[in-house]
Amino acid sequence: MTDTLIVLNATELLTLKGPRMARVRQEMSDLGIILDGALAVEGGVITAVGTTEAIKREFDATGVDRVDASRKVVMPGLVDPHTHLVFAGSREFEIEMKVRGKTYMEIMQDGGGIHRTMRDTRAASAADLYAQSAKRLRSMIAHGTTTVEIKSGYGLDRTTELRMLEVARKLGGDLPVDVVPTFLGAHAVPEEFRGDPDGYVALIVNEMIPAVREQGIARFCDVFCEQGVFSIAQTRRILQAARSAGLQLKLHADEVHDLGGAGLAAELKAVSADHLLAASDENIARMAQAGVVASLLPATAYSLRKPYARARRMIRGGVPVALASDCNPGSSYTESMPFVFGLAVMQMDLSPLEALTAVTLNAAYALSMAERVGSLDPGKQADFLLLDGESPAILAYHAGVSPVTAVYKRGELAAGREDP
Ligand code: NIG
Ligand code: FE
Repeated sequence: MTDTLIVLNATELLTLKGPRMARVRQEMSDLGIILDGALAVEGGVITAVGTTEAIKREFDATGVDRVDASRKVVMPGLVDPHTHLVFAGSREFEIEMKVRGKTYMEIMQDGGGIHRTMRDTRAASAADLYAQSAKRLRSMIAHGTTTVEIKSGYGLDRTTELRMLEVARKLGGDLPVDVVPTFLGAHAVPEEFRGDPDGYVALIVNEMIPAVREQGIARFCDVFCEQGVFSIAQTRRILQAARSAGLQLKLHADEVHDLGGAGLAAELKAVSADHLLAASDENIARMAQAGVVASLLPATAYSLRKPYARARRMIRGGVPVALASDCNPGSSYTESMPFVFGLAVMQMDLSPLEALTAVTLNAAYALSMAERVGSLDPGKQADFLLLDGESPAILAYHAGVSPVTAVYKRGELAAGREDP
């Protein structure tokens, strides 16, 4: 085993090489495909991409590890820019209520939903929380995810929120995946502040954000900006405090109602606004102007049984679109980005090429990680996948089944088989 590796004979090598910007409009369809492609890696970093012939000519392959990608697609590792992966317990029982017509917000307002998971998460030890979350993260990696954002938000008190962020950090250190931790103390108003939401906002601003800053782990701050959860004014207050503490900004925006979260994301120049099922045309245009990435979560619309976000409208309007799993115990319980990809193509009318950009390079921009991941560019991390198919369309075509046969993280096999 050397730290040099070459991957040869890929039917299609999807590089996504190009200008260093989040992709918009027709740029989302330009995957920089190399037919009969190859890739060279040294010390976990990509050193060259080209045709198999060119790479063989350029590199003396004696004594170098080789991966034969014949009859395979080689693509960048999947980036999942919105998850609530760290939590305890299960809400499997909510499925029965949902099919009987109870809505997500009704379940939450009756003390279930996020509140139920909060109780389970507060009660779990750090070790138990870690074990339950690690199981899900291993499943994500097996489905091709090599970079993942993980939010807190089921503690809703200082101690448990910090514990969740610590678990997320430790997972990233222990498993072959980059973890980007996000502070989401503003996920719901906990029961002890019922009737005093501004009291909880003050706690977030005056105590939790300074504590998160001191802990130094979180890179982003997010808020569930929604009718009956956090208003536009409360969200603005929290995000401004977070920015002053050095955190980058994200929002759960217009998931259920058109409250104007997408417009606020543009006003604050947040890195991304997520969900957007109910976002207005006007605020979509403002996002495009401000360069805010739209992180769309079709598995959530599927599970909430709501109309999907208007991805075509966003792409036409010049918004860079990314896709994420939203993996959480309530509104979207899946670790599978191939499932998300399939929904985006079949239900939101993204072409497979656009969807591929949305789960790699644009998702990396949604995490401010595009300098290191999201495309197969020399100098970037050697995070790549082998797919059992002929083109990116395989990710939508083979429904409910992952075509990912091997996952490489920084040039090392993280899941799957060497010789699939
Ligand atoms: O992104 N909308 C708020 N948060 C999550 C759901 C969390 C939960 O239901 O536990 C979401 O959909
Ligand atoms: Fe979410």
